[in-house]
Amino acid sequence: MQHVVVTIDGPAGAGKSTVAKELAQRLGALYVDSGAMYRAVAWLAVHYHVPANEEEPLLQMLSEHPLKLYRSRQGTMEIFVDGHSISDQLRTPQVSDIVSQVAVHPRVREQLTQWQRETGKHESVVMDGRDIGTVVLPDAQVKIFLTASLAERARRRVAELSNQGYPLTTEELIEAIESRDEQDASRAVAPLQPATDAYHIDSTEKNVAEVVEEILILIRKVTHE
Ligand code: DC
Repeated sequence: MQHVVVTIDGPAGAGKSTVAKELAQRLGALYVDSGAMYRAVAWLAVHYHVPANEEEPLLQMLSEHPLKLYRSRQGTMEIFVDGHSISDQLRTPQVSDIVSQVAVHPRVREQLTQWQRETGKHESVVMDGRDIGTVVLPDAQVKIFLTASLAERARRRVAELSNQGYPLTTEELIEAIESRDEQDASRAVAPLQPATDAYHIDSTEKNVAEVVEEILILIRKVTHE
């Protein structure tokens, strides 16, 4: 298949990363989880006790401890800081609680946007996030806006977190997800919103394979036009 760029944006817990990972594998494309980069900055802020609401110290921290992005053999992106991979430490409630505050700062976003654009320059890429179709890769051939009901998104996150040893209730998750969506959608710079040319998919009653198939059909249509 020719070089293809696919963006998947949407609110927290809509299934973006699961779908994007599977889709990238089917396409032989690189999968880039842009949320993981924001999470990595939040992780660093926790680790180095830098306040998440202060842009200047966060930028200073990032220049001292830059994120290093590597492509794993499976076609996913690994994030290293200070010589260690932190990819498996990014989805903890502690990181999730502050990541939207970190993502508000325009210059932090600028730096991460630049890294995101670099990653997919020379190969097919599936990138997921909040502003990928609108800001990061506005020329992508296929843009998806993936949603699901709040209850379903909370249910999925409860399952994911309990697998990782964090027994949170659906009620707690509904509250946390709602608050993160609210912060992500209302920020001044690159808020969560669908691109005008995005294709909307509601995954509430669809499984991963169905969503992936739907997107593959769309990609075939677009790339054969
Ligand atoms: O997709 P995720 O839940 O891992 O994203 C974590 C946070 O990062 C999300 O609440 C908002 C922020 N984010 C962003 O602002 N822009 C992106 N492109 C991706 C994530």
